[in-house]
Amino acid sequence: MSHIFSVFNQAGGVAKTTLAMNLGYELAQLGQRVLLVDFDPQGTLTIFMGIEGWDLPATIYDCLIANRPATDVIHSAHGIDILPANLALGKAELELYHAPMREQKLHRVLEPLSEAYDLVIIDCPPSLGVISYLALVTADYVIVPLECEYKSYQGTDLLLQTIGKIQQEANPELKIAAFVPVKVSLQKSQHQRVLAAIDSQLAQIAPIASPIPDAIAFADASERCLPLSLYDRRHRAVEPLRNLAKQILSIATTGQVEVLHA
Ligand SMILES: Nc1ncnc2c1ncn2[C@@H]1O[C@H](COP(=O)(O)OP(=O)(O)O)[C@@H](O)[C@H]1O
Ligand SMILES: [Mg+2]
Repeated sequence: MSHIFSVFNQAGGVAKTTLAMNLGYELAQLGQRVLLVDFDPQGTLTIFMGIEGWDLPATIYDCLIANRPATDVIHSAHGIDILPANLALGKAELELYHAPMREQKLHRVLEPLSEAYDLVIIDCPPSLGVISYLALVTADYVIVPLECEYKSYQGTDLLLQTIGKIQQEANPELKIAAFVPVKVSLQKSQHQRVLAAIDSQLAQIAPIASPIPDAIAFADASERCLPLSLYDRRHRAVEPLRNLAKQILSIATTGQVEVLHA
């Protein structure tokens, strides 16, 4: 049985896709069979993995809408498999809006793969639409990257409300696996203050992962379609990514999310 993690934050540019790819790679390095699911019509994860999304004969859209088996659509790179996406997925947003049993759609795509992968990581789009909803309904866990600017930290309330609503109405089993501070620059006093706020306000809800530093190497690595540790294995951001991978693996194997009790 695979364990399904969705990387979710309704804001754009908060490192969801970067985190999904690097986490997937580090989990594969730990011996896990990993499937990445690009669930964003922008297809950024597909592109970061070195796949030319625009001329793919089939994508996750065909699996969702036309019941195409996922095994027809899966690609591989760097020892990880990926179910790619492109702009076609944008059509699914409308087409699924009134579809009967839409909650089941992504589950049905992934179910036949559940013996083939230990971990599935779904990269969500930057929105609160049907696609994100399906990703959260289908997941066992959600991983939340958080930027340490006040402006984006203020969006955390809405994010928690959304997750809470899904837990109440559609997926009571959904757990937050981790908050991951991303693009952190400790020279910036605002980042230090937001990190402290994250520790004091969110640690009772879910574990806070080691901060991922702000580093241009992430953009350089993705330009070359590589995970960070293949681009520069000595980079200082590699260690927090590996720590996060170990933390996620432990949650997947034990089913336990350790949180601080106030
Ligand atoms: N830790 C980091 N430090 C600096 N830049 C980062 C970091 N993580 C991601 N980025 C860059 O931020 C941009 C947005 O990242 P992306 O993963 O596409 O975000 P999202 O999927 O949330 O929209 C990309 O250019 C990416 O290279
Ligand atoms: Mg993205």
